[in-house]
Amino acid sequence: MRVRDEDVSLEAIRAAHVAVIGFGNQGRAHALNLRDGGIRVTVGAREGRSAERARAEGFAVATPALATRGAHIVMLLVPDEEIGGLFAREVRPALERGAAIGVAHGSALHFGALETPDDADVFLVAPAGPGVALRSRFTEGSGIPALVAIHHDATGSCRARALAYAKAIGCTRAGVFMTSVREETIVDLFGEQAVLCGGLAELVSHGFQALVDAGYAPEVAYLECVHQIELTASLVSRLGIEGMWKAVSRTAAYGGLVTGPLVLGEATRMAMAEALRAIESGEFYEAFARDAARGGPELAALRADALGEGLKRTEREVRSQLGAGEKND
Ligand SMILES: NC(=O)c1ccc[n+]([C@@H]2O[C@H](COP(=O)([O-])OP(=O)(O)OC[C@H]3O[C@@H](n4cnc5c(N)ncnc54)[C@H](OP(=O)(O)O)[C@@H]3O)[C@@H](O)[C@H]2O)c1
Repeated sequence: MRVRDEDVSLEAIRAAHVAVIGFGNQGRAHALNLRDGGIRVTVGAREGRSAERARAEGFAVATPALATRGAHIVMLLVPDEEIGGLFAREVRPALERGAAIGVAHGSALHFGALETPDDADVFLVAPAGPGVALRSRFTEGSGIPALVAIHHDATGSCRARALAYAKAIGCTRAGVFMTSVREETIVDLFGEQAVLCGGLAELVSHGFQALVDAGYAPEVAYLECVHQIELTASLVSRLGIEGMWKAVSRTAAYGGLVTGPLVLGEATRMAMAEALRAIESGEFYEAFARDAARGGPELAALRADALGEGLKRTEREVRSQLGAGEKND
């Protein structure tokens, strides 16, 4: 169900004191957008890069525990594998009666790592995009869409507080959709694994390798299969998939519509169903949390093994020749 900007009041947050715990990708954008709307924000951070950056941007910075004290809304924007432990150690003991707890993704809540008290409102406001986009769209006068879910309504005002929060960071301007924490969690994990990150990276590296194995120049294969993703993604984002098929050449449309289903066929459908099963059963999250608790050795090995040497080398060369910098999002 879509909630429009004009249907949401800022009343539930206007006079609130918000503790934004974490000043990374999401935390910085939430804190800046809230502050621009006149809302009192304290950033909760441990000493280090994030704390220094938040101070440099003029925020009051305190430890997560001190930031929580006196806050009406505590937004937990640390990595998902850290949320449960940080909350139990530092936030929960300092939480004011009647305060609301917010998250921007539901894994820690859904899989039980984040245990919240029964007398606290608990909501999810999950912007559909990285912090840089959340911030830049806000400053342009628009916003990015978000999913909102009510996990636990202790005060009877949780929905009003969650929607007011979504409005304050600019998301209702683009549109907010109500969902459940379970749905947001499962769909988000599946999307990033099977389509947006995992699926996309494998697709482009298979395309690159097929061309190189057939004797075509690596840099030409890279420019075609990797570098142009942004252009197609932008067409899909602006026009939808149907619009993309109309916008590309007739050759691309004919070839793509014939070959796409041959490349991603029945085996992909079955692999996606299996990925979804492992996410829904909690198997994926258990493996991820176990690795994170050991400092992430499996993730480090997976990162090191990802992509073939040929693609990595070509990527470095082409990107340096094109002067492409690292994108900080
Ligand atoms: N990234 C996205 O595009 C995106 C989109 C929607 C939702 N989300 C959700 O937003 C939440 C935050 O993700 P993020 O991407 O913003 O994370 P992030 O960029 O990795 O930022 C993490 C922040 O948490 C701090 N932190 C990490 N461990 C900590 C600890 N033990 N104690 C205190 N502070 C700690 C870091 O501070 P230091 O500098 O001190 O390490 C940093 O400020 C997650 O729930 C994520 O799923 C992310």
